[in-house]
Amino acid sequence: MQYKELGNTGKKISAVTLGSWGIGGAGWDNADKKESQAAIDKMLEYGVNAIDTAPIYGFVRPGEEDFGYGYAEKVIGEVIRGKREDIFLVTKCGLNYDRAQGPRSMYKSMTREEIIAGCEGSLKRLGTDYIDLLFVHWPDMKTSLEEMTDAMKTLIQQGKILHYGLSNFTLEDTCRADDLLHVAAVQLPYSMVDKGSEEMLLAAKKRGIGTMTYGSLGSGILTGAYRTIPTFDKMDARASFYHFFEEPMFSRIQKLLGVMDEVAAAHQATVSQVAIQWSVRKEFVDTAILGVSKEKHARQNCDAFTWEMDEEELRKLDAAIQCL
Ligand SMILES: NC(=O)c1ccc[n+]([C@@H]2O[C@H](COP(=O)([O-])OP(=O)(O)OC[C@H]3O[C@@H](n4cnc5c(N)ncnc54)[C@H](OP(=O)(O)O)[C@@H]3O)[C@@H](O)[C@H]2O)c1
Repeated sequence: MQYKELGNTGKKISAVTLGSWGIGGAGWDNADKKESQAAIDKMLEYGVNAIDTAPIYGFVRPGEEDFGYGYAEKVIGEVIRGKREDIFLVTKCGLNYDRAQGPRSMYKSMTREEIIAGCEGSLKRLGTDYIDLLFVHWPDMKTSLEEMTDAMKTLIQQGKILHYGLSNFTLEDTCRADDLLHVAAVQLPYSMVDKGSEEMLLAAKKRGIGTMTYGSLGSGILTGAYRTIPTFDKMDARASFYHFFEEPMFSRIQKLLGVMDEVAAAHQATVSQVAIQWSVRKEFVDTAILGVSKEKHARQNCDAFTWEMDEEELRKLDAAIQCL
């Protein structure tokens, strides 16, 4: 495993972070709990020391209490018992639903009340008394940055969180918040098939803000597992949140996969390992979050650190990415 310092937190974390939206299961493949926990264990065994989750991962999972809200956090909480100090634990707040109205009432909020209560809920479900990094999951476009940073300051003073971060915020708001209370990290999408956040990641790095990137495997398409267009339910994250399984993007990505196949074959490696190396070699990516809920995927992905692409191969990949 490789390790990088997350921004200027002084904390070295693995170049890949375990992502748990798929472990939540809702909007994905309703991952089996035991299988997910085996996947987490395998990643930890390989030296991964950062886990990313959110209370919303699992929301509307059938048959779970509170409509699955906090399900992934509970699954993770069970695995990290007894290992807490070795793990950089990341969760989020600000995506919730109104209990009186039911699961259709999901909302974004970064009010003081929501942040403080959200953190308390996560601490309970994760079975810990502190969170290393708490993100506001999405900006709510209403609450002032002053109110949001003030709530985060309270949680830091109380020792309930060590750092706070902003996910999916604009660069302008990130800089304004950073002036009020240092932002430890941003979380943004970034991969071979989505380079839209590159400028923002570079700007964040310049300010000493850590960078965690999500969708590093293009929601699965960059693993080579899909060579024909699959049919996903319209609520599936791969159809509603990511858009790589639609034409013309799908066919364009297949051409990129052809080049990735060649690079992978030359090293007896897998396509997912090519995608992972491409991300973690960027100096402005501190850690690439990988969504994994299967042990075999955990093993395959962590083996990305057993070999290295050369500069010529990187150039070939970048040329193929230019054509997307
Ligand atoms: N801040 C935000 O707004 C935000 C948004 C999206 C995601 N995130 C975070 O970032 C994480 C990563 O993003 P993501 O999970 O959305 O997408 P992703 O990591 O690009 O892709 C996840 C998909 O790839 C599959 N996969 C992983 N390794 C594989 C392999 N070796 N072979 C075949 N398939 C493989 C997973 O399958 P299995 O599950 O079957 O292993 C899952 O279906 C999330 O889990 C979450 O923690 C944050």
